[in-house]
Amino acid sequence: MRTQIYQILYSDRRPLAHNVVKALILLSVAAVVAIAMIKTLPRFDLVADAIMNTVRMAAMAVLTIELAARFWVAPEGATHAFDNAIPDAARKDEVSGSRFAYLRSSLGLVDLLVVLPAWANLLYPISPHWFELTAALSLFKLSRYVPALSLVTAVVARQGRSIYAALVVLGILLVCSATVIYMVEYETQPAHFASIPHSLWWAISTMATVGSGDIAPITPIGRIVGGIAMVFGIAMFAVPAGILASGFAEELRKRDFVVNWQSVARVPLFARLDANAIASVAQLLKPRSVSANQVIVRRGDIADSMYFIMEGEVEVDITPNPVRLKQGDFFGEIALVENVPRTATILSLTNCRLLVLETVDFEHLTTQIPDLKDQIKRISDKRLPDQ
Ligand code: CMP
Repeated sequence: MRTQIYQILYSDRRPLAHNVVKALILLSVAAVVAIAMIKTLPRFDLVADAIMNTVRMAAMAVLTIELAARFWVAPEGATHAFDNAIPDAARKDEVSGSRFAYLRSSLGLVDLLVVLPAWANLLYPISPHWFELTAALSLFKLSRYVPALSLVTAVVARQGRSIYAALVVLGILLVCSATVIYMVEYETQPAHFASIPHSLWWAISTMATVGSGDIAPITPIGRIVGGIAMVFGIAMFAVPAGILASGFAEELRKRDFVVNWQSVARVPLFARLDANAIASVAQLLKPRSVSANQVIVRRGDIADSMYFIMEGEVEVDITPNPVRLKQGDFFGEIALVENVPRTATILSLTNCRLLVLETVDFEHLTTQIPDLKDQIKRISDKRLPDQ
């Protein structure tokens, strides 16, 4: 049952149930956010208020059940949690470890922070604004379902170091200009440039070229400092924008992963086929991108496909020594060739791009090109004794 709920929550292996649950979660988030916004408008009559409170409670109940379910099924994403070959204690550790890893992950934290304060506030009303805050926070849950949001997170994560460096320089320039403007303007405008923290507001609005206009230097030196701050501001604020723009372009290029003749010809197993055969193989293979630390294949599962690694590295979890497979290698073939359940669990070590060959297509292809099946079998026979 846990595996089924995991698949419903995280994968589209059960498209109908997955889409129903997804719609329910998205509706609940929309309801929580809409009600929080509407409730800040001037007062409604009591009936409308009561209806909104009921809908909000129902939506919060859905989000709470979602949190509990994700917490419960978290071990399904772990490698060893169901491996009977490892000792009970280690298995229990892995189960609780993966649950806490879920709670510590950024989305797990959002799930928790949306639900906990809202219920805590019902028991001990602390502030009427709690619901508004948790409603705004619940919007981050959308990143599970809206690819554009995950794109932003991926870009920020990838470009994190460059953005950090640009922000540090920006911070230094802000503090320097606030200090200098305080030194030169304090005597003339003690009310506006009362301290360095007060002057920071001027520095930020000047360097961001917003110029809110509420405070401005009036001494000649102050104006020179202001002019320099504006020029540097344009240059420095443009840096993070440029980094993000190139990050977006790079990430989009990476995600635009299609199976074409060239990519199939690069797989060593297919490299010696003639051009027509490669073209027909290309039609059968489906692209799949997997992020790091994901279980791709789990020992004991019924197989539905085999995989070719186009980019990245995976680990075959076999004892005593796990094996690493990389670009050009394939896996998941033993179950198809021998008609047995998966013989090992496979975990992605890095972000991977895979080509997937489903069982029916495998049968079709190996009937058409029997030599291919012999080659695959030769490799799977070599791998089998190590089990
Ligand atoms: P399959 O049993 O379908 O799923 C797990 C996969 O792990 C298996 O196919 C092989 O592709 C791979 N595998 C199993 N044992 C080894 C090994 N000793 N070396 C490399 N790969 C292996």
